[in-house]
Amino acid sequence: MDTAVIILAAGKGTRMNSTRPKVLHEVGNFPLIAHCIKTAQSIDPKKILIVLGHGQSEIKSVLGNAVNSIDFAIQQEQLGTGHAVGVATNELADFEGNLIVLFGDTPFISARTMTKIENECKQADLVVLGFHPQDPTGYGRLVTNNKELLRIVEHNDANQEELAITLCNSGVMAGSAILIKKLLKELDRNNKNNEIYLTDCIELADTEGLNSTYLTCDPTEALGINSLQQLADAEKRFQQTARSVALNNGVHLVAPETVFFSLDTDLGQDTIIEPNVIFGPGVTVGTGCKVKAFSYLEGCKISNDCNIGPFARIRPGVDLSDGVKIGNFVEIKNAKVAEHSKINHLSYIGDAEIGENTNIGAGTITCNYDGFNKHKTVIGEDVFIGSNTMLIAPVNLGNNAMTGSGSVITKDVPAQDLAIARSEQSNKKGGASKLKALLSRKNNLKAE
Ligand code: UD1
Ligand code: CA
Repeated sequence: MDTAVIILAAGKGTRMNSTRPKVLHEVGNFPLIAHCIKTAQSIDPKKILIVLGHGQSEIKSVLGNAVNSIDFAIQQEQLGTGHAVGVATNELADFEGNLIVLFGDTPFISARTMTKIENECKQADLVVLGFHPQDPTGYGRLVTNNKELLRIVEHNDANQEELAITLCNSGVMAGSAILIKKLLKELDRNNKNNEIYLTDCIELADTEGLNSTYLTCDPTEALGINSLQQLADAEKRFQQTARSVALNNGVHLVAPETVFFSLDTDLGQDTIIEPNVIFGPGVTVGTGCKVKAFSYLEGCKISNDCNIGPFARIRPGVDLSDGVKIGNFVEIKNAKVAEHSKINHLSYIGDAEIGENTNIGAGTITCNYDGFNKHKTVIGEDVFIGSNTMLIAPVNLGNNAMTGSGSVITKDVPAQDLAIARSEQSNKKGGASKLKALLSRKNNLKAE
């Protein structure tokens, strides 16, 4: 049977105490909503529908084109989770498969759990994902009779006995679209918050003789984010998981607790990551690489057997082929570097293309920006750039060319040529001794 996933993301997130829409707050450098989309996509559903309200245009523009297979439904007024699902099902008029509802503020539901829920829908009319949080405050409680789920009572509406229940609602609910649509029509706002609660579907189903059940997941999977404190807890949890995944995939993290990942970080086997390395969004690193301490990488593709850092800054648009070396205090942006080339010390390389086996000397700078436009530097194969060369872009250097140290290169250098662009040296015979004597006389006069 087909499955459609509905993600609720219309709420204001008042408890975040922030002007940013809640689902745009980030964990692992990606907005919460992106984590939910990844969860939804894991079961390859027929449809993904996101319910937006507060901050809808901001959310749409952040998601941009990345989500062309996703539809949006707009909830003009946030009347509660039941109302939000109703807005979504209005857009799914002809859909007769199963629905899985996810909350945009609950980002860690795993692919495994999604599959379990999908399967459980074959056994029961409604399926809810429960969990035992460390602190159940704020969560709805599952009132059960063995595996049967009788109703869900919200924290604010619960009596003492119900508050003592430790099995809580993650927010994930699933069941046939036809049934859920029918139940939603019967919901009221008879609760302390005066909202239409999705959770009330369970009691309604029970009174109609239908059977609801629950599954449980690890409490960290069901972590709901309502405050910045919970966001910080979520970040911690995300990093811990990402580190374990990397270690299990054969990535050697020397000090795992000091390495920070993004949701899409992809590291190859036998790559070694030294302490205090940060992976911003969009980083792929191949196999057998070494990323040395205190390096910061974002938006880059690093092939196999590369050596990065220590203290390297790899910025968006960098593409390094196999065996490339980027050393200490090198910043590199929007640059393609071919096999076995080296930029080992104290350089800035931006908007450049570098051929294979080229050596970029210490302190080399591509002067790519004239205050208005960015210009490109193209360097061929087997080129030797002398230390402290300024390459004033746009400029091209042919294969096997060389530049003398300290040169300011303003014109193209043909293949095989040596360019030297610095003022010529002149040695004054005995000049050092004469100068010292003169300075010392002057100082003595001053002291008297
Ligand atoms: C909800 C559940 C609670 C559960 C908890 C898990 C209900 C009534 N309560 O409580 O049982 O333990 O999540 O984290 O379902 N939203 C809309 N439109 C609305 C209202 C909410 O789209 O009109 C969205 C929010 O943006 C959010 C999600 O639904 O992503 C959950 O809403 P929230 O207000 O955070 O519910 P909780 O109080 O956390
Ligand atoms: Ca919530």
